[in-house]
Amino acid sequence: MTLAKTIDGKAFAARLRGRVAELAASFEEQAGRKAGLAVVLVGEDPASQVYVRSKGRKTVECGMASFEHKLPEDASQETLNALVDTLNADPAVDGILVQLPLPDHLDEQAVVDRIDPNKDVDGLTPASTGRLALGLPGLVPCTPLGCLMMLKEQLGDLSGRDAVVIGRSILVGKPMAQLLLKESCTVTIAHSRTKDLPEVVRRADIVVAAVGRPKMVKGDWIKPGAIVIDVGINRLAPADGAEKGKLVGDVDFDEASHIAGAITPVPGGVGPMTIAVLLRNTIVAAHRNEGLVLDADAI
Ligand code: GUN
Repeated sequence: MTLAKTIDGKAFAARLRGRVAELAASFEEQAGRKAGLAVVLVGEDPASQVYVRSKGRKTVECGMASFEHKLPEDASQETLNALVDTLNADPAVDGILVQLPLPDHLDEQAVVDRIDPNKDVDGLTPASTGRLALGLPGLVPCTPLGCLMMLKEQLGDLSGRDAVVIGRSILVGKPMAQLLLKESCTVTIAHSRTKDLPEVVRRADIVVAAVGRPKMVKGDWIKPGAIVIDVGINRLAPADGAEKGKLVGDVDFDEASHIAGAITPVPGGVGPMTIAVLLRNTIVAAHRNEGLVLDADAI
């Protein structure tokens, strides 16, 4: 059996950041200031701290300004709201990202709803979500947009393809389905209550797995030649014996890579794309906020 092509998300993300850096330089020349991204982190979650540090570093590497705001674990809703209001009003800030999940006592949706839709680089406000559902241009959540870019690079035109998205989260599953629909795919959204999931997945030319369950999607669920995009990032538990501590996706890579046409690895697939798309969204927002023309679809 031939082995599937492994889609190199790290290299793709590096190319995308290169394009963003060029646009950031021309933005600075035209606007007389750098494009700016503000990231808000509440609490000490180790994974979130790693992501936020990495976002800040890559923002600066691309020639944009990074503003990091850290609030203590017990920060109040009022404090967080006031910070979002300040960032909304700050002309040096083009994009605002509040790192999720927030501590339990905070109302996540209320915070997201407060972000100025023109600065919503995460694409999570009701305004951005509504525009995506209506098929209007706007800021789109980073992970699904990164998945779409990789799919288009593999397949070119996606129209008429059967796509199955496993997972219905606000951050990935739902916006992914909207994006694929916009590309004229026939889209199925599968989730924990879906009957006979293996059979549903077997119909798909495109599989996007975003459920957060290690190696749930097995090789014999995959239609030969299908493109498999694995959004899962799961760290195996001590009970997994020899593989404990290993990062794996939602797809059993070793099995699926003998059947798929192309597949994203974990790590090094979708993960690196998310930050690159965040930077892409920031430079798009910056141009819009300054009234400068930019063909966002061409990036
Ligand atoms: N936490 C994990 N992924 C994301 C993301 O894409 N955006 C935000 N705001 N938080 C996250």
